Amino acid sequence: MTPADVDFLELAAPGVCGLTPYQPGKPVAELERELGVRNAVKLASNENPWGPGPQALDAAQSVMRQIARYPEGSGYQLVERLAARHDVAPGCITLGNGSNDVLDMIARVFLTPQHEAVFSRYAFAVYPISVQAVGASAREAPAHDGSRGPAWGHDLDAMAALVGRDTRVVFIANPNNPTGTWLHADELEAFLERMPPHVMVVVDEAYFEYVEDERYPDTSRWLARYPRLIVTRTFSKAYGLAGLRVGYALSHPQVAGLLNRVRQPFNVNLVAQAAAVAALEDTQFLADCVRYNRAGMQQLVSGFGRMNLPYIESVGNFVAVDVGRAASEVYQGLLRQGVIVRPVANYGMPRHLRVTIGRPEENERFLSALHAVLT
Ligand SMILES: Cc1ncc(COP(=O)(O)O)c(C=O)c1O
Repeated sequence: MTPADVDFLELAAPGVCGLTPYQPGKPVAELERELGVRNAVKLASNENPWGPGPQALDAAQSVMRQIARYPEGSGYQLVERLAARHDVAPGCITLGNGSNDVLDMIARVFLTPQHEAVFSRYAFAVYPISVQAVGASAREAPAHDGSRGPAWGHDLDAMAALVGRDTRVVFIANPNNPTGTWLHADELEAFLERMPPHVMVVVDEAYFEYVEDERYPDTSRWLARYPRLIVTRTFSKAYGLAGLRVGYALSHPQVAGLLNRVRQPFNVNLVAQAAAVAALEDTQFLADCVRYNRAGMQQLVSGFGRMNLPYIESVGNFVAVDVGRAASEVYQGLLRQGVIVRPVANYGMPRHLRVTIGRPEENERFLSALHAVLT
């Protein structure tokens, strides 16, 4: 047998064969290499344009001399700080290499090829990947069409209707990426009340810190009431540490115990642990970022208004705009101008582009490039 005779697809797990890899935003260096543009701007991965905060940066630098050693596998200090922050026992926390890692652990712990996971259309793309990778079935509920709830947003009634005997996990992104839509406390609570006892409900709150509406719930407060609730959070967004990869889950301690069984040892590295501990203390940086984000959102949506472009109302650090034609072409046109945003055709949104809120000058550069491409 020659190497050419091997069909590795036949050897791979069936769930993996059908997977399409997650498509990340295009890196600046890649665009600069490919198109020869200079000073490219990346508004494509919902990163914090102001990060990292000064305290997190100091903390990361101060531990660099220790990186020949493994970190503390339990992430003791970070876990203690998070427990204090959320007023839960340390045993309720599971650390992840980004919150994606935690979402993946949840799928590995609770799903098998005999089980199903429910999520909404337009929901964050990692859910179907994690579900399929373990060979479980994904059931996708239609999103709101605008008549009974915000268009593109999760329709919790439609999701509940798909929950059956074999459902083990429901994924809810609040707010959701790429739509920026969100759920109020009362509707989410009513949904949790309706869930049968064999269903774990994951509420993914990657953009939690950005949401300022008082009807938006802090579901970490609900853990005692809903033992099958798992809340995920991240340091990648408002805390400005996307490159270090730190996220975590809050759950019933027994659930955390199960997640920790599949967690890789040392999944959060030494530098990341130190930076995350410091980032939690830097409340000024966080408050500033939330304020800048609000202003940046206003800057972008005002620009969309001037160009008569509809957009999906968002509470995150990004917004999806309807460019009124094949967004892939507009995306390419923006790339030639050195502006990277995210096309979302893979989400079934071929006319939308998702734009991360940048610094004021980056937002301006995007708006004028968009105007140039569209006219
Ligand atoms: C809704 C949502 N959940 C989770 C994540 C994962 O982020 P991380 O793995 O960096 O924590 C993202 C990142 O874009 C997201 O948009």
